Amino acid sequence: MNADKQPEPHEADSGEWRLERPATDENEVRRRHAANRSAFNEGARTYAAELERAARFLASGNSNMHPVERRNLERYGPLSDWCRTAVHLQCAGGLDTLSLLVEGADSVVGVDISEAMIESARELSRRTAMSARWYCCDVLDTPNELDGSADLVYTGRGALPWIHDLTEWAAVVERLLRPDGVVCIYDSHPFQAMISWESSKLELAPETRYFDYADSEKGWSDEYIGEIEGIDVSKQTRKYERVWPLAEVVQALIDAGLALDRLGEHAEDFWRPFPALPDSERARIPNTFSVCARKR
Ligand SMILES: C[S@@+](CC[C@H](N)C(=O)[O-])C[C@H]1O[C@@H](n2cnc3c(N)ncnc32)[C@H](O)[C@@H]1O
Repeated sequence: MNADKQPEPHEADSGEWRLERPATDENEVRRRHAANRSAFNEGARTYAAELERAARFLASGNSNMHPVERRNLERYGPLSDWCRTAVHLQCAGGLDTLSLLVEGADSVVGVDISEAMIESARELSRRTAMSARWYCCDVLDTPNELDGSADLVYTGRGALPWIHDLTEWAAVVERLLRPDGVVCIYDSHPFQAMISWESSKLELAPETRYFDYADSEKGWSDEYIGEIEGIDVSKQTRKYERVWPLAEVVQALIDAGLALDRLGEHAEDFWRPFPALPDSERARIPNTFSVCARKR
Protein backbone atom coordinates (compact mmCIF):
# COMPACT_ATOMS: atom_id res chain seq x y z
CA MET A 1 0.00 0.00 0.00
CA ASN A 2 1.43 3.40 -0.85
CA ALA A 3 1.37 6.57 1.24
CA ASP A 4 -1.68 7.91 -0.58
CA LYS A 5 -3.78 4.86 0.29
CA GLN A 6 -4.17 4.79 4.06
CA PRO A 7 -6.99 2.57 5.42
CA GLU A 8 -10.09 4.34 6.67
CA PRO A 9 -10.24 4.56 10.49
CA HIS A 10 -13.10 2.01 10.65
CA GLU A 11 -11.18 -0.59 8.58
CA ALA A 12 -9.46 -3.41 10.47
CA ASP A 13 -5.68 -3.06 10.36
CA SER A 14 -4.23 -6.47 9.55
CA GLY A 15 -0.76 -5.01 9.93
CA GLU A 16 0.56 -5.08 6.38
CA TRP A 17 3.61 -3.02 5.44
CA ARG A 18 2.77 0.55 4.47
CA LEU A 19 4.75 3.32 2.86
CA GLU A 20 4.39 6.49 4.97
CA ARG A 21 5.08 10.13 4.33
CA PRO A 22 7.85 11.42 6.62
CA ALA A 23 6.33 13.14 9.67
CA THR A 24 6.60 16.90 9.20
CA ASP A 25 4.64 18.29 12.14
CA GLU A 26 5.19 17.76 15.83
CA ASN A 27 1.82 16.08 16.45
CA GLU A 28 2.55 13.41 13.89
CA VAL A 29 6.08 12.91 15.28
CA ARG A 30 4.60 12.41 18.76
CA ARG A 31 1.84 10.13 17.45
CA ARG A 32 4.42 7.86 15.82
CA HIS A 33 6.62 7.87 18.92
CA ALA A 34 3.60 6.94 21.07
CA ALA A 35 2.75 4.07 18.71
CA ASN A 36 6.35 2.84 18.87
CA ARG A 37 6.19 3.00 22.66
CA SER A 38 3.20 0.62 22.68
CA ALA A 39 4.89 -1.65 20.15
CA PHE A 40 8.06 -1.84 22.25
CA ASN A 41 6.01 -2.47 25.39
CA GLU A 42 4.67 -5.53 23.59
CA GLY A 43 8.10 -6.53 22.24
CA ALA A 44 9.82 -6.07 25.60
CA ARG A 45 8.60 -9.52 26.67
CA THR A 46 11.52 -10.97 24.70
CA TYR A 47 13.95 -8.81 26.65
CA ALA A 48 12.36 -9.86 29.94
CA ALA A 49 12.82 -13.50 28.94
CA GLU A 50 16.55 -12.83 28.41
CA LEU A 51 17.04 -11.16 31.80
CA GLU A 52 18.67 -14.06 33.60
CA ARG A 53 21.13 -14.66 30.77
CA ALA A 54 21.97 -10.94 30.59
CA ALA A 55 22.48 -10.81 34.36
CA ARG A 56 24.87 -13.77 34.29
CA PHE A 57 26.73 -12.25 31.33
CA LEU A 58 27.30 -8.96 33.17
CA ALA A 59 28.00 -10.61 36.52
CA SER A 60 30.86 -12.50 34.86
CA GLY A 61 32.45 -9.17 33.94
CA ASN A 62 31.41 -9.19 30.26
CA SER A 63 30.49 -6.17 28.19
CA ASN A 64 28.06 -6.14 25.28
CA MET A 65 29.82 -3.28 23.43
CA HIS A 66 30.30 -4.00 19.75
CA PRO A 67 33.95 -3.99 18.57
CA VAL A 68 33.26 -0.96 16.34
CA GLU A 69 31.87 0.93 19.35
CA ARG A 70 34.78 -0.08 21.55
CA ARG A 71 37.29 1.06 18.93
CA ASN A 72 35.54 4.41 18.63
CA LEU A 73 35.34 4.94 22.39
CA GLU A 74 38.95 3.92 22.97
CA ARG A 75 40.15 6.57 20.53
CA TYR A 76 39.38 9.01 23.36
CA GLY A 77 41.43 6.90 25.81
CA PRO A 78 40.20 4.40 28.42
CA LEU A 79 36.67 5.29 29.55
CA SER A 80 37.84 5.18 33.16
CA ASP A 81 40.05 8.23 32.41
CA TRP A 82 37.38 10.50 31.00
CA CYS A 83 33.84 9.18 31.46
CA ARG A 84 32.31 10.19 34.78
CA THR A 85 28.76 9.98 33.38
CA ALA A 86 27.45 8.19 30.28
CA VAL A 87 23.87 8.76 29.12
CA HIS A 88 22.45 5.96 26.97
CA LEU A 89 19.54 7.11 24.80
CA GLN A 90 17.07 4.34 23.83
CA CYS A 91 18.61 1.97 26.35
CA ALA A 92 16.00 -0.84 25.98
CA GLY A 93 16.61 -3.54 28.62
CA GLY A 94 19.78 -1.87 29.92
CA LEU A 95 22.34 -4.49 28.92
CA ASP A 96 24.38 -2.03 26.87
CA THR A 97 23.93 0.73 29.45
CA LEU A 98 25.36 -1.46 32.22
CA SER A 99 28.07 -2.65 29.83
CA LEU A 100 29.34 0.94 29.82
CA LEU A 101 30.12 0.46 33.53
CA VAL A 102 32.13 -2.64 32.63
CA GLU A 103 33.94 -0.54 30.00
CA GLY A 104 34.99 1.93 32.69
CA ALA A 105 32.32 4.66 32.99
CA ASP A 106 31.86 5.83 36.61
CA SER A 107 28.09 6.18 36.35
CA VAL A 108 25.43 5.50 33.76
CA VAL A 109 21.96 6.77 32.91
CA GLY A 110 19.48 4.97 30.66
CA VAL A 111 16.60 6.65 28.84
CA ASP A 112 13.83 4.76 27.03
CA ILE A 113 10.23 5.45 26.05
CA SER A 114 8.96 1.96 26.92
CA GLU A 115 7.82 1.31 30.50
CA ALA A 116 8.34 -2.43 30.03
CA MET A 117 11.89 -1.93 28.74
CA ILE A 118 12.76 0.33 31.68
CA GLU A 119 11.26 -2.20 34.08
CA SER A 120 13.54 -4.88 32.56
CA ALA A 121 16.50 -2.51 32.86
CA ARG A 122 15.74 -1.82 36.54
CA GLU A 123 15.45 -5.54 37.21
CA LEU A 124 18.79 -6.16 35.45
CA SER A 125 20.34 -3.47 37.67
CA ARG A 126 18.90 -5.12 40.78
CA ARG A 127 20.03 -8.62 39.84
CA THR A 128 23.58 -7.54 39.04
CA ALA A 129 23.82 -4.90 41.79
CA MET A 130 25.11 -2.54 39.08
CA SER A 131 23.68 0.85 39.81
CA ALA A 132 22.23 3.16 37.17
CA ARG A 133 19.62 5.88 36.90
CA TRP A 134 16.72 5.01 34.57
CA TYR A 135 14.33 7.48 32.95
CA CYS A 136 11.18 6.40 31.16
CA CYS A 137 10.39 9.07 28.57
CA ASP A 138 10.56 9.98 24.92
CA VAL A 139 14.18 10.85 24.04
CA LEU A 140 12.84 14.24 22.98
CA ASP A 141 11.61 14.79 26.57
CA THR A 142 14.82 13.75 28.33
CA PRO A 143 14.61 15.80 31.54
CA ASN A 144 16.55 19.05 31.79
CA GLU A 145 18.05 17.93 35.10
CA LEU A 146 20.46 15.85 32.94
CA ASP A 147 21.57 18.83 30.85
CA GLY A 148 25.34 19.30 30.78
CA SER A 149 25.89 16.09 32.73
CA ALA A 150 27.20 13.68 30.07
CA ASP A 151 30.84 13.08 29.21
CA LEU A 152 29.42 10.52 26.79
CA VAL A 153 26.07 10.27 25.07
CA TYR A 154 25.84 6.77 23.67
CA THR A 155 23.12 5.44 21.36
CA GLY A 156 22.48 3.16 18.42
CA ARG A 157 22.13 -0.46 17.37
CA GLY A 158 18.56 -0.01 16.25
CA ALA A 159 17.86 3.45 17.71
CA LEU A 160 17.68 6.23 15.10
CA PRO A 161 15.08 4.66 12.76
CA TRP A 162 12.50 4.99 15.57
CA ILE A 163 13.04 8.74 15.90
CA HIS A 164 10.93 10.93 13.63
CA ASP A 165 12.50 14.34 14.31
CA LEU A 166 16.26 14.37 13.94
CA THR A 167 16.65 18.11 14.58
CA GLU A 168 14.99 17.83 18.00
CA TRP A 169 16.92 14.63 18.72
CA ALA A 170 20.26 16.36 17.97
CA ALA A 171 19.28 19.30 20.20
CA VAL A 172 18.74 16.84 23.08
CA VAL A 173 22.15 15.23 22.49
CA GLU A 174 23.77 18.66 22.54
CA ARG A 175 22.11 19.80 25.75
CA LEU A 176 22.99 16.58 27.59
CA LEU A 177 26.71 16.91 26.86
CA ARG A 178 29.24 18.74 28.98
CA PRO A 179 31.61 21.00 27.05
CA ASP A 180 34.14 18.65 25.42
CA GLY A 181 31.77 15.69 25.94
CA VAL A 182 31.28 13.28 23.03
CA VAL A 183 28.38 11.52 21.40
CA CYS A 184 29.11 8.11 19.90
CA ILE A 185 26.54 6.48 17.63
CA TYR A 186 26.73 3.10 15.93
CA ASP A 187 23.63 2.12 13.98
CA SER A 188 22.26 0.40 10.88
CA HIS A 189 23.37 2.03 7.67
CA PRO A 190 20.40 3.67 5.91
CA PHE A 191 21.42 1.91 2.69
CA GLN A 192 20.38 -1.40 4.30
CA ALA A 193 16.79 -0.21 4.22
CA MET A 194 16.96 -0.20 0.42
CA ILE A 195 17.69 -3.92 0.22
CA SER A 196 15.06 -6.61 -0.24
CA TRP A 197 14.67 -8.45 3.08
CA GLU A 198 13.81 -11.90 1.70
CA SER A 199 16.09 -12.06 -1.31
CA SER A 200 19.13 -14.38 -1.54
CA LYS A 201 20.95 -11.85 -3.69
CA LEU A 202 21.46 -8.14 -3.33
CA GLU A 203 18.56 -6.30 -4.92
CA LEU A 204 16.60 -3.17 -4.14
CA ALA A 205 13.32 -3.67 -2.32
CA PRO A 206 10.32 -2.34 -4.25
CA GLU A 207 9.10 1.13 -3.19
CA THR A 208 12.05 1.94 -0.95
CA ARG A 209 14.16 5.00 -1.59
CA TYR A 210 17.07 6.60 0.19
CA PHE A 211 15.57 10.05 0.64
CA ASP A 212 12.38 11.08 2.50
CA TYR A 213 11.45 7.53 3.33
CA ALA A 214 9.30 6.22 6.16
CA ASP A 215 7.21 3.10 6.58
CA SER A 216 5.10 1.25 9.09
CA GLU A 217 3.93 -2.28 9.81
CA LYS A 218 2.87 -4.60 12.60
CA GLY A 219 4.95 -7.49 13.86
CA TRP A 220 8.65 -8.10 14.36
CA SER A 221 11.17 -9.98 12.25
CA ASP A 222 12.37 -13.35 13.53
CA GLU A 223 15.87 -11.89 13.48
CA TYR A 224 14.92 -9.46 16.29
CA ILE A 225 11.86 -9.96 18.52
CA GLY A 226 9.94 -12.47 16.39
CA GLU A 227 6.51 -13.71 17.39
CA ILE A 228 5.06 -12.40 20.64
CA GLU A 229 3.38 -15.16 22.58
CA GLY A 230 -0.26 -14.41 23.22
CA ILE A 231 -0.60 -11.45 20.81
CA ASP A 232 -1.52 -12.15 17.21
CA VAL A 233 0.28 -9.84 14.74
CA SER A 234 -3.02 -8.19 13.73
CA LYS A 235 -3.60 -7.23 17.40
CA GLN A 236 -0.13 -5.73 17.85
CA THR A 237 0.54 -2.02 17.59
CA ARG A 238 1.57 -0.62 14.22
CA LYS A 239 5.12 0.76 14.52
CA TYR A 240 6.74 3.52 12.49
CA GLU A 241 10.27 3.73 11.15
CA ARG A 242 12.20 6.42 9.34
CA VAL A 243 15.28 6.07 7.15
CA TRP A 244 17.74 8.85 7.96
CA PRO A 245 20.32 9.35 5.21
CA LEU A 246 23.82 9.41 6.65
CA ALA A 247 24.40 13.03 5.64
CA GLU A 248 21.23 14.10 7.50
CA VAL A 249 22.45 12.44 10.72
CA VAL A 250 25.83 14.18 10.52
CA GLN A 251 24.32 17.51 9.50
CA ALA A 252 21.79 17.42 12.36
CA LEU A 253 24.67 17.07 14.84
CA ILE A 254 26.67 19.85 13.17
CA ASP A 255 23.62 22.13 13.09
CA ALA A 256 23.12 21.47 16.81
CA GLY A 257 26.62 22.88 17.37
CA LEU A 258 28.72 19.70 17.62
CA ALA A 259 32.06 19.17 15.88
CA LEU A 260 32.51 15.97 13.91
CA ASP A 261 35.41 13.83 15.20
CA ARG A 262 34.85 10.64 13.26
CA LEU A 263 32.59 9.15 10.62
CA GLY A 264 32.69 5.47 9.67
CA GLU A 265 30.85 3.14 7.30
CA HIS A 266 31.24 -0.53 8.16
CA ALA A 267 30.68 -3.90 6.54
CA GLU A 268 30.22 -5.37 10.06
CA ASP A 269 26.76 -5.63 11.58
CA PHE A 270 25.36 -5.91 15.10
CA TRP A 271 22.59 -8.34 14.11
CA ARG A 272 21.65 -10.56 11.17
CA PRO A 273 19.07 -8.97 8.91
CA PHE A 274 18.39 -10.48 5.43
CA PRO A 275 18.08 -14.13 6.52
CA ALA A 276 18.63 -15.57 3.02
CA LEU A 277 21.55 -13.36 2.00
CA PRO A 278 24.96 -15.11 1.91
CA ASP A 279 27.78 -13.45 3.87
CA SER A 280 29.67 -12.77 0.63
CA GLU A 281 26.73 -10.63 -0.54
CA ARG A 282 26.30 -8.84 2.80
CA ALA A 283 29.94 -7.86 2.77
CA ARG A 284 29.44 -5.88 -0.46
CA ILE A 285 27.40 -3.10 1.16
CA PRO A 286 27.77 -0.72 4.12
CA ASN A 287 25.74 -2.47 6.84
CA THR A 288 26.38 -0.02 9.67
CA PHE A 289 27.76 3.46 10.27
CA SER A 290 29.33 5.20 13.23
CA VAL A 291 29.61 8.86 14.15
CA CYS A 292 31.50 10.50 17.00
CA ALA A 293 31.07 14.22 17.56
CA ARG A 294 32.15 16.57 20.30
CA LYS A 295 30.58 19.51 22.08
CA ARG A 296 32.89 22.51 21.78
C1 LIG B 1 15.78 -1.74 18.84
S1 LIG B 1 15.90 -1.14 20.49
C2 LIG B 1 17.60 -0.77 20.43
C3 LIG B 1 18.18 -0.57 21.75
C4 LIG B 1 19.45 -1.32 22.09
N1 LIG B 1 20.52 -0.93 21.24
C5 LIG B 1 19.25 -2.82 22.06
O1 LIG B 1 19.97 -3.48 21.33
O2 LIG B 1 18.43 -3.36 22.77
C6 LIG B 1 15.12 0.45 20.33
C7 LIG B 1 14.72 1.06 21.66
O3 LIG B 1 14.37 2.42 21.42
C8 LIG B 1 13.28 2.73 22.27
N2 LIG B 1 12.60 3.91 21.69
C9 LIG B 1 11.94 3.97 20.51
N3 LIG B 1 11.51 5.23 20.30
C10 LIG B 1 11.92 5.97 21.35
C11 LIG B 1 11.79 7.35 21.71
N4 LIG B 1 11.14 8.22 20.94
N5 LIG B 1 12.34 7.77 22.88
C12 LIG B 1 12.99 6.90 23.69
N6 LIG B 1 13.15 5.58 23.41
C13 LIG B 1 12.63 5.12 22.24
C14 LIG B 1 12.44 1.48 22.30
O4 LIG B 1 11.57 1.42 23.41
C15 LIG B 1 13.53 0.40 22.33
O5 LIG B 1 13.85 0.05 23.63
